Amino acid sequence: MPSSTEQPTSKVPPPPPKGPKITEMTDDTITQNTILVNSQHTNMRLLFLLQKAVQHLHDFAIETRLTTEEWEVAIQFLTETGKMCSDIRQEFVLLSDVMGLSVLVDSISHPKPPNATIGTLLGPFHTHDASEMHQGDSICSEGKGEPLLIEGLLTSPDGAPIPDASIDLWHCDENGLYDTQYPGRERPDMRGIVKTNDDGTFVIKCTRPVPYAIPHDGPVGKLLQKINRHPYRPAHIHFIIQKEGYDRLITALYAKGDPYETSDAVFGVKTSLLYTLDKLGAEKAKKYGMNPDDWYLKWHFKIITNEEAKKLVYQKNKDALTRASANLVLNAEGLPEPAPLD
Ligand code: BEZ
Ligand code: FE
Repeated sequence: MPSSTEQPTSKVPPPPPKGPKITEMTDDTITQNTILVNSQHTNMRLLFLLQKAVQHLHDFAIETRLTTEEWEVAIQFLTETGKMCSDIRQEFVLLSDVMGLSVLVDSISHPKPPNATIGTLLGPFHTHDASEMHQGDSICSEGKGEPLLIEGLLTSPDGAPIPDASIDLWHCDENGLYDTQYPGRERPDMRGIVKTNDDGTFVIKCTRPVPYAIPHDGPVGKLLQKINRHPYRPAHIHFIIQKEGYDRLITALYAKGDPYETSDAVFGVKTSLLYTLDKLGAEKAKKYGMNPDDWYLKWHFKIITNEEAKKLVYQKNKDALTRASANLVLNAEGLPEPAPLD
């Protein structure tokens, strides 16, 4: 006899649910049938995302004449990718990065007008424990790399200064490693936050970043090796720029002429984000307690308001709908989904 807390197991199957009748599973009907059974709900955006995912996945299998063995290899790869993930390692994001998807989603979701600073991928090394710095402070601990002074300016695209904005920046050290990649990290290093002055300017010391390899000791690294791709990124400095009322900018500046400038493993480089370093010179060296031979970077960031960003996303999504010429509408968030049936 089952105890009173155990659920009795019934041998009688539940009555079939109401819904579309799925019959005749052939190569020609399986896609539509799958879309049909996935569509028994009213979340139109989810319905659209699933419909497109199934359509494209099935088309992929059909067009490549995917074999069972190949699909098993793919499942094994995805399983290993999942097993590599932990609190400090996201192998699926890395996969999305090396497949160019992260940067594509960022540019679809956060388009910028031509007169604003363009965004790029965040990467996995941003942390939320960076300290707030004063103007002219260094984000790097003593003895790290070649000193670099950054003088920045933050304005709207028309040049109006944006004061009291948060500039969160981080980069790798002279060994091509972020602080979080060292075992036993006790405090943040090579990262910090500085606020813009009333005239939109900020000054911060850091060190000259170097090219480095993305984590490649896992399945994504093995894949890169198999397809003759290298895991390197050109030297760069990451920035997150935030100010209430403005669209948060996630971007990075890349070293022009870097050996990996034109083959970034994660496709983050954009021409308008390339920098060239100058020598600091005697005057600034004296002002900031540095050496004239240290490095100097001057950069003008331009950000747009939330309202401008929202309008731009809406316009871009509308243009995409027109091109798709499908029976789609933009929902309240400005995202495409199937038009309601009258
Ligand atoms: C980075 O720039 O920090 C990064 C981006 C993508 C993958 C790995 C690292
Ligand atoms: Fe990076």
